[in-house]
Amino acid sequence: MSTLKNILSPLKIRSMELPNRVVMPPMGTNLGAGDATVSDENLAYLARRAKGRPGLIITEITGIHPDGVVGPSQLGAYDDRFIPGLKKMVDVAHRAGSRIAMQIHHTGRESLYLLKQGRAMAPSPIPSIVFKGEPREMTLEDIQEVIAAYGAAARRARETGFDAVEIHGAHGYLITQFLSALTNQRSDGYGGATLKERARFALEVIAEVRRQVGADYPVSIRLSAEEFIKDGYLVEDIQSIIPDMVQAGIDIIHASFGTHGSPGGITQAPAEYNPGFNIGLARKIKEVTDAPVIGVGRYTDPADADAAIGRLDADLIAFGRQFLADPDFLVKAQQGRTADIRQCIACNQGCIEREILGEGNIRCSINPETGQETIYPAAAEKPRRVWVVGSGPAGLVAASEAQRLGHKVTLFEKNKIMGGQIRYAQVPPHKEIYGRWIDWEIDQVEKSGVEIMKETRVTQELLAKEKPDYVIVATGGEKLIPPIAGIDKPFVCDAWQILDGRVAPGKNVVIIGGALIGMEVADFLSDKGSQVTVVDMLPRSPVLKITSHGYMLHKRMREKSCRLIFGVEVKSIGDGCVECGMGTELSTIAPVDQVVIAAGMKPVNDLQDALEKLGIEYALVGDAKSPRRIIEATEEGARAVWKL
Ligand SMILES: Cc1cc2nc3c(=O)[nH]c(=O)nc-3n(C[C@H](O)[C@H](O)[C@H](O)COP(=O)(O)O)c2cc1C
Repeated sequence: MSTLKNILSPLKIRSMELPNRVVMPPMGTNLGAGDATVSDENLAYLARRAKGRPGLIITEITGIHPDGVVGPSQLGAYDDRFIPGLKKMVDVAHRAGSRIAMQIHHTGRESLYLLKQGRAMAPSPIPSIVFKGEPREMTLEDIQEVIAAYGAAARRARETGFDAVEIHGAHGYLITQFLSALTNQRSDGYGGATLKERARFALEVIAEVRRQVGADYPVSIRLSAEEFIKDGYLVEDIQSIIPDMVQAGIDIIHASFGTHGSPGGITQAPAEYNPGFNIGLARKIKEVTDAPVIGVGRYTDPADADAAIGRLDADLIAFGRQFLADPDFLVKAQQGRTADIRQCIACNQGCIEREILGEGNIRCSINPETGQETIYPAAAEKPRRVWVVGSGPAGLVAASEAQRLGHKVTLFEKNKIMGGQIRYAQVPPHKEIYGRWIDWEIDQVEKSGVEIMKETRVTQELLAKEKPDYVIVATGGEKLIPPIAGIDKPFVCDAWQILDGRVAPGKNVVIIGGALIGMEVADFLSDKGSQVTVVDMLPRSPVLKITSHGYMLHKRMREKSCRLIFGVEVKSIGDGCVECGMGTELSTIAPVDQVVIAAGMKPVNDLQDALEKLGIEYALVGDAKSPRRIIEATEEGARAVWKL
């Protein structure tokens, strides 16, 4: 067993004494009060993470200027009126024994909110890749005003009691916009052909921050060590400016990577990437400085982080999404309870993509407490006999939450194996992590003392006999079979039969349905050597390329020459061919030796009638309500219990 001696060793950086080298990096939460001030939700979220004893917490992006924010609710540090709220964040961290730094941020052109109002500014008037709108070019007066604003915000951080300040110089925000040749085409002294020349703005910001905070106060800079975008700068370029940054007043380099336009959202890397996949970038930065370097990227296990520090790849390791999935992971590792750590599955559904897609504030698809700390109940007012029917994500989360709250819980599963649809979802390439997660959920439910009844169907008779107080119907969904001529031909099967190995992959396969299941089966089959064509009536793929998993899937489809045909209906399945088209225009796909149906799911909620008749209180959750993603399933499973 790892002793974790590296990650648990203290570190002193100027006036700041860190109790260990685990960093909770900045993560925007959208939990703010709406007027840029700190809310109770922010504090509850932070307190829960601080309980996990990170050595250093870095706050989410905190705006230095009202014309430099992503949106009006982003936390602000551009006025003294924010100090009382920010002070509460400091107190929360300190009470738990952590140190806390404030991340100061100017968004530059990366704000739809500012672009819409014509207020967005950037080094050069080049449209944002993400939001398309064009910012105005900053004047020399703007530059001076913004530099002063960074300094004033840093001064406020110090006055508030933060232990350090971190300048956000990464991910495509204003400082990266100056650093990158793709966004900085200025011909005055703030532009130039080399990164060293384009670093002038960053260096002036650092110098002003240092001037404002004094000599003994730790100042970190977060950089994208590499842009990961076509013609973007490389780590060798960044290496050239690190000594100048240290000279100007930087004490810590936080070696992140990627920028807004990086394909596939590599900054929040999906499950295709292994823990620590980019730690080499931190090591490259360590080559050119003695300043402590923070490494980051998909870490979920303190033992991996401990090894990275042991190899001198980095001095500290940041665990981002892992703090959302399980804020207690470090404590559990220290107690030798690594099997109890709920490891982040890098799905991004509840965190970064929820924010990008404007779906709401921070959540975690496998940890229902995240972002809901203020409503997360500690115990049931009145323990009840709760039955949970179905052991997919919704059922398992409902069962463990009900047990945690003190109810008497029985979980029913009609099959021998628990896990529901995840048993299929874990099969396609890079999805094994889902299987590990569901095994973890099952293990936790088993350990918790929930009564588990496998191979048991809940019937009206059983309900009438046992009369539970409350039933959570998490019976999942079943496949939809579209009424297509020829659907009963022997070479037609469904996605589930392919994924569980009942049907062997064909040679020339047509998949009917291009949503997530169809695309993942295509990924699976083309890995097995099948030549795959996906057909769907929808005008375009519902698997969005702006999600990291969606991006990776589409990329693999392209690489494996998988054909995606959207906006076309399958009219009939013939012998060795599939007829499809729209209106009267028909075309034939041939040769075809296998047709796979992946046309979606419909809810299985047969118990509802019986429960109504018997007058038993119940909740319908997850796919049994309407087939959707993991995040909806787990959230509904948890909420069905919380409301009791
Ligand atoms: C929901 C969310 C919000 C984020 N917001 C910020 C931010 O405000 N500032 C920042 O520098 N990085 C931000 N990041 C990036 C993280 O700090 C971290 O670098 C990233 O999640 C990769 O680490 P991980 O693989 O351990 O999650 C955010 C990430 C997530 C998931």
